[in-house]
Amino acid sequence: MLKKNIVLIGFMGCGKTTFGRKLAKRYKCEFIDTDKFIEAEQGMSVQDIFEKKGEPYFRELEKELCKKISEKNGYVIATGGGIIKNDENMECLGKNGVIVYLKASPEHIFRNIGHDSSRPLLQGKNKMKKIRQLMAERIPTYEKNADVTINTAGQTVNRITNRMYERLKKYNMKKICVIHGPNLNFTGIRERGIYGTKTLDDINKYIIEEGNRLGFEIEVFQSNYEGAIIDRLQKCYYDKVDGIVINPGAFTHYSYAIRDAIASVQIPTVEVHLSNIHQRDEFRHKSVTAPACIGQLCGFGEYGYIMAINAIKNRAKIR
Ligand code: DQA
Repeated sequence: MLKKNIVLIGFMGCGKTTFGRKLAKRYKCEFIDTDKFIEAEQGMSVQDIFEKKGEPYFRELEKELCKKISEKNGYVIATGGGIIKNDENMECLGKNGVIVYLKASPEHIFRNIGHDSSRPLLQGKNKMKKIRQLMAERIPTYEKNADVTINTAGQTVNRITNRMYERLKKYNMKKICVIHGPNLNFTGIRERGIYGTKTLDDINKYIIEEGNRLGFEIEVFQSNYEGAIIDRLQKCYYDKVDGIVINPGAFTHYSYAIRDAIASVQIPTVEVHLSNIHQRDEFRHKSVTAPACIGQLCGFGEYGYIMAINAIKNRAKIR
């Protein structure tokens, strides 16, 4: 599932519709072609709108549509060639979208649309010259706005779509924040018989790799301070993180402040402990933080973090 919109920009004829359809199929989401959308709404072709109502009228319709799109999520959008000329449009589209610039040479464009008489800005003779001129004007704007640039030359549509899909993965992954509490930076040094021999860096590397494999972007954080952990939890709220995995260390057993922070952010949170806290000292049997979480896992070493990520993944599916 797409978390953001994918917004394709690029010169007319660069393949925004073709690639957009393919990508939407891949993401199993809806595809919007802004020109086609406006044509359907107005009941006439773009060319007719240009002729009968003028270009400024059409640009106004584009502006309105960009505003509407900025309130939606999870669409692949092919933009009409002129949308990028307006900074406000690009700001709207970039707010909840990844902007993908499909780069193509003038020759490539001419091959694709040289024969097409329905393009209002390419009427008359010497199309190649017009393409070059218009492209030179627009390229700086495409480049300025692009989060990702994809070269569309020389490969099959399927291969380019695959490349795009791979490049876009990181922008559209759901995010999980893994928080380690006090003394966990000493893992691998402290009480190895209980917490194992791996360092926290080793464990984090493992969590990031496995987390990515499960389709999540993973952020890791460690602090020995209660306040810093609370600040990090609150940041998760503002960053719209999709899940939290937390090992609050000894704070588990007495920090009502961390318990309240977990409850405040309203993000699915799983509590993890490397050791089985129920087999250990009496004071470790109680967790004041677990009731604010969707569940607790303990006694599985670092694998517990992966189980927690899986738990968040499956919970998201059920919801
Ligand atoms: C721990 C268990 C806590 O009781 C202890 O204070 C820790 C680590 C664990 O991962 O097993 O620091 O959270």
